Amino acid sequence: MTTKQYNNLKFSKEGTIGIITLSRPKALNALNTELLLELKDIVKAISQDETVHVLIITGDGKAFVAGADITEMKDFNSVMGLKYGELGASVFKKIENLKIPTIAAVNGFALGGGCELAMCCDIRIASENAKFGQPEVGLGISPGFSGCVRLARLAGLAKARELIYTADIIPASEAEKIGLVNKVVPPEQLMEAAIEMARKIASKAQIAVRYSKMAINKGIETDIETAIAFENQVFALCFSTEDQKEGMTAFVDKRVPEFKVK
Ligand code: CAA
Repeated sequence: MTTKQYNNLKFSKEGTIGIITLSRPKALNALNTELLLELKDIVKAISQDETVHVLIITGDGKAFVAGADITEMKDFNSVMGLKYGELGASVFKKIENLKIPTIAAVNGFALGGGCELAMCCDIRIASENAKFGQPEVGLGISPGFSGCVRLARLAGLAKARELIYTADIIPASEAEKIGLVNKVVPPEQLMEAAIEMARKIASKAQIAVRYSKMAINKGIETDIETAIAFENQVFALCFSTEDQKEGMTAFVDKRVPEFKVK
């Protein structure tokens, strides 16, 4: 795995769990081009590292991410806006497409690009003091890193329209009610809760977890016939893995399975 040093993020590992901590606290971890390129780089390294089975993304300080960098965007023209939007959206798509499961541990503000980053992860665990929103229209822009698309899918059209058109910022408790967040925990328990969930996932058969992720992602992007046929295919493929033999043999033998990602 990479030992590269980054200016705006840190990477660490706890066993098979990788942790990216976005760290540009003076600007509340706002996503400038440099940070986005660093994120792209570390995500690529993680995608090539077979020893990372679950990824957690979190933020340093009082924010998860307070959005795309307003200072950088202020004097953009449309061409620059397009380039920036495409960069952010493509990095988030790479995170969504990682074969391993991802968890956003949302420690504070997740606004604009921050909410969009949390939404491209598979699961969101939020601290009680986290706040979510897409405040872009208050700045004269629409969401630019896939917020319209993913918020509508996660929270439904009605809530997505309300939140995006009003630019309202909502607490973690409300984000949980609308399905944007899986779980809310006290701030001091956030990383513990994220790691606990990551460990639980990491203890299962990883090939089966990854195939499930592929079937879920394919399933929401395609018609139901194709989606179900795809799920049948990956289900069938599981039977060619050693982990399937181990999982079912362990069940019959009444013991805990020992999975090998094979
Ligand atoms: N971009 C650049 N800098 C930012 C920033 C952002 N998105 N958010 C915060 N900062 C900077 C502030 O300018 C400030 O810098 P200085 O100390 O140099 O003045 C520093 O971070 C601390 O911020 P505040 O003093 O404002 O902290 P606060 O606790 O009073 O307020 C906040 C926190 C409510 C999150 C407030 O900072 C805020 O409203 N930030 C902007 C949120 C926002 O509108 N995000 C959407 C951006 S647009 C976008 O993301 C588009 C997209 O979809 C791709």
